[in-house]
Amino acid sequence: MDILPEILNRRSIRKYKSTSVTDEQISDLILAASLAPSGSNKQPWDFIVVKSKEMKEKICELDHNQKWMLQAPVFIVCVGKSTYRKDDSMERTIRDSAIAITHILLQAQHMGLATCWTGWYEQDEMRNILGLTDKDYVTGIIIVGYADENPNARPRRKATYTEI
Ligand SMILES: Cc1cc2nc3c(=O)[nH]c(=O)nc-3n(C[C@H](O)[C@H](O)[C@H](O)COP(=O)(O)O)c2cc1C
Repeated sequence: MDILPEILNRRSIRKYKSTSVTDEQISDLILAASLAPSGSNKQPWDFIVVKSKEMKEKICELDHNQKWMLQAPVFIVCVGKSTYRKDDSMERTIRDSAIAITHILLQAQHMGLATCWTGWYEQDEMRNILGLTDKDYVTGIIIVGYADENPNARPRRKATYTEI
C-alpha cells in the first residue's frame, strides 16, 4: 500500500497527556493550514488558538460538554470567514476552511502530535462566546496535544467509484 503514513496512522484522540505544545509547533500547524487549496485562492479562514483554562472550559461546555478535551493543552478554532470572499458564499467558506483543518490534522500527525476535530455545538452559541458574527462559521474546534491512548483504526466503508 503506497499511502502516506500520516494518512494511514492518524486517529481521533480523546485521551491526552498534560505535556504542552510549543508556540513553534502551533505556528507550523497554522502554516500547514494556510497552504491548503481554496476556491479562487480565497483562503477564507482564520484561527483562534485557545490555551486558557477558562476559555477551554467555556468551549467544552458548548461542545456537548465533552470533558475529555480539557486534558489537551491547546484547542485550535478554525473560523471560516465568508467576508474574505467577494461572493460572500458561506457554502464555499465552509468547504475551503474544512480543507485547511485537514492540513492541520495531517501536519500534526507528522509532528507526533495528536488531534481530534470536534463539532458538536450550536453554531450561534459558539460564535457568541468567541465574539464572531453570522458572517463567520466555526468549522471545527481542533483539540491538539500528545496522545495518551492508541486506538485502533475506525472502520471505513470501501469507497467505490464509477468510470465514465
Ligand atoms: C466535522 C467533524 C466533527 C467531529 N466532531 C467530533 C466531536 O464532536 N467529538 C468527537 O469525539 N469526535 C468528533 N469527530 C471525530 C470523528 O468521530 C472521527 O473522525 C471518526 O469517527 C473517524 O475516526 P478517526 O478520525 O479516528 O479516523 C468529528 C469529525 C469531524 C470530521
